[in-house]
Amino acid sequence: TIHLKNRNFLKLLDFQPKEILYLLELSQSLKEAKYAGTEQQFLKGKNIALIFEKASTRTRGAFEVAAYDQGAHVTYLGPSGSQIGHKETIKDTARVLGRMYDGIEYRGFGQDIVEELGQFAGVPVWNGLTDEFHPTQILADFLTMKEHSNKPLSQIKFCYLGDARNNMGNSLMVGAAKLGMDFRAAAPGQCQPSSDLQQQCHTIASKTGATIRITDNVEEAVKDCDYLYTDVWVSMGEPAEVWGERINLLKPYQVNKKTMELTGNPDIKFLHCLPAFHNRSTKIGEEIFQKFGLGALEVTEEVFEGPASIVFDQAENRLHTIKAVMVATLG
Ligand code: CP
Ligand code: NVA
Repeated sequence: TIHLKNRNFLKLLDFQPKEILYLLELSQSLKEAKYAGTEQQFLKGKNIALIFEKASTRTRGAFEVAAYDQGAHVTYLGPSGSQIGHKETIKDTARVLGRMYDGIEYRGFGQDIVEELGQFAGVPVWNGLTDEFHPTQILADFLTMKEHSNKPLSQIKFCYLGDARNNMGNSLMVGAAKLGMDFRAAAPGQCQPSSDLQQQCHTIASKTGATIRITDNVEEAVKDCDYLYTDVWVSMGEPAEVWGERINLLKPYQVNKKTMELTGNPDIKFLHCLPAFHNRSTKIGEEIFQKFGLGALEVTEEVFEGPASIVFDQAENRLHTIKAVMVATLG
């Protein structure tokens, strides 16, 4: 039997394949119960701290709604207004919040920070995104793939295009290795996962039967895939100055109609963790597009708004999967 009570959820590397599969099954049953109006509350009377050192729409919304659905209460601690990181160390913060709260979510910069919080809090700590990893997102992505496929995850082939050295590239590669999937990343050398993490994933893959391929060749990488996945080319916390260089490097890795066709799969589906730069209608987007004379960045409007796009199913699944993480570790 699977026992995740009191565990931290900091990165997928810490979990066994069967534990990840269990979280996906729990997500599915919590989702069904919510739809059926039969959801049971496993977190009644629990108090949860949500620390966000970076912006968020989905992750914050998912943690808050999941907590309320389950009968728990939350405190949101934003990038300003608390002592965290300014006047008080992470180790002290961990021990203080651990005396008051039953669980702590943390979104921020270095993975070492969330690890330190997890080490000293004495209550479960959940990673809501760091520079290195975004593990709750992967649960939502894999649940979405599961729902849109008529085969098990271990038979799914998918390709991540773009900045494969960021939190999404890293986490998808680890998740795929753990679940025995066929994973490809299409990215130029500078944007490929570190060789250390690649090595770790190859070791995992040799036990799970996963295939991990990292290449700069889009055509090769996307062939026969079931899903194409991309993310922003510059992540939160990176300086705006890197946009020029990234656009030059990553332009050939944009997901557009041609990329979708190159898969050779008429049922190819498109995933994106969001937010996405698919048109000019955002403040940051407008600035970048004007400066570089582009209409879209990592994905075209045509693909994003097209019938193959399942990005909003994916966004909804953040709720059900984050709920599963909290219920499994606290409930
Ligand atoms: N995908 C994701 O983590 O979105 P937010 O930044 O809105 O939380
Ligand atoms: N790589 C992106 C993911 C956002 C959910 C970032 O870190 O900004």
